[in-house]
Amino acid sequence: MSNFFITGGAGFIGSAVIRFLIKETDHQVLNLDKLTYAGNLESLASVAQNQRYQFLQADVCDQGLVSQVFEDFQPDVVMHLAAESHVDRSIDGPTDFIQTNIVGTSVMLECARKYWKQLPSDNRFRFHHISTDEVYGSLDDTGLFTEETAYDPSSPYSASKASSDHLVRAWHRTYGLPVLITNCSNNYGPYQFPEKLIPLMILNAFEGKPLPVYGSGQQIRDWLHVEDHARAIYKVVTEGEVGQTYNIGGHNEKTNLEVVHALCDILLELAPWNGSPRAFGPRDDVGSYKELITYVADRPGHDLRYAIDASKIQKDLGWVPQETFETGLRKTVEWYLNNFEWCQHVQDGSYQRQRLGVIEGKQGAVE
Ligand code: NAD
Ligand code: DAU
Repeated sequence: MSNFFITGGAGFIGSAVIRFLIKETDHQVLNLDKLTYAGNLESLASVAQNQRYQFLQADVCDQGLVSQVFEDFQPDVVMHLAAESHVDRSIDGPTDFIQTNIVGTSVMLECARKYWKQLPSDNRFRFHHISTDEVYGSLDDTGLFTEETAYDPSSPYSASKASSDHLVRAWHRTYGLPVLITNCSNNYGPYQFPEKLIPLMILNAFEGKPLPVYGSGQQIRDWLHVEDHARAIYKVVTEGEVGQTYNIGGHNEKTNLEVVHALCDILLELAPWNGSPRAFGPRDDVGSYKELITYVADRPGHDLRYAIDASKIQKDLGWVPQETFETGLRKTVEWYLNNFEWCQHVQDGSYQRQRLGVIEGKQGAVE
């Protein structure tokens, strides 16, 4: 049994990791989260009462407090997920991304280093930084991101994550801090904030609202179910080699338009219009959800294609995803249709699925 210090555990991936740790292991879990718009304790309702779980509302940039958490909780493992995560928001306002993703990571590293230095020499302490494939930039029609691909980030979000990855590697090379880094592709699944493509499309379709496809819709993302990601990073932090980087992906390359079409097909099957009143009430004058697809201005600096070579984690650690895109997507649509209350609560106040990240006169990928 070990002590797991999780940052950002009230977010989409962090909450999946904590649900996994509480249900599938006997570890103690401390969740430190600021509870920004993206952090929601309702996502942890199923584990909140568990004796092995505790929550602390705090900012990863607060050095005094983070340092105290290390002293009090005595973690064996840190899994650092806290971040600003939405590309469109980083276009509208990069400052929070620089603060949380770069400064916050440097605070976590320094506090971890001071704590680790006092541990006995045979300690098994690990600092695991959870990162993204977006640090590698954009692929053209061929090739895959490997752990050796050069960094080439496009957005303020991905540049801030790239910076944080560099800091983590520097703390390993300079101070010997026992770190691991993972770079994962696009996650989908339950409890994802509805600013992201998949939940936004499900909820808009169900309400009969336009489905805003950026640019041509031909950009490619490589999708992985969030519970497969949680299993992968648990494997990395418990069995991975210190100092190593592991790419994580599900071999599910799809154009955005293919994803939206697949969602529309599943929705039509699971929620056909029958005139009965529903929580959000679908329009009854639309024959197919696909008729709601609306092409809108492209994202500035839009990366064209992401695709992960996950052979290292498969070969070295024996990890493979359990969900196919088809099974995972269907479960995800079912989850959103059964959890309107969660969707409404997390959107209360600040966000009504409006378009974010538009710059007048600036659209699409940089040639
Ligand atoms: P999310 O936006 O759903 O959750 C982020 C969490 O971090 C929230 O609970 C938020 O309250 C918390 N947080 C933000 N700023 C904080 C601060 N200053 N102090 C403490 N907590 C703070 O993000 P996510 O999609 O769950 O992503 C988690 C991590 O995984 C991020 O580091 C992201 O870069 C990375 N990642 C995400 C994806 C993806 O597809 N979503 C893919 C690969 C990697
Ligand atoms: O690749 C991993 C990354 O995936 C993570 O690091 C990020 O945290 C996560 O947000 C995600 O980034 P993306 O920008 O790929 O995800 P998003 O859901 O915002 O968009 C997915 C694709 O869909 C992208 O090409 C833009 C497009 N899109 C998005 C939205 C919200 C649309 O066409 N319409 C939309 O309304």
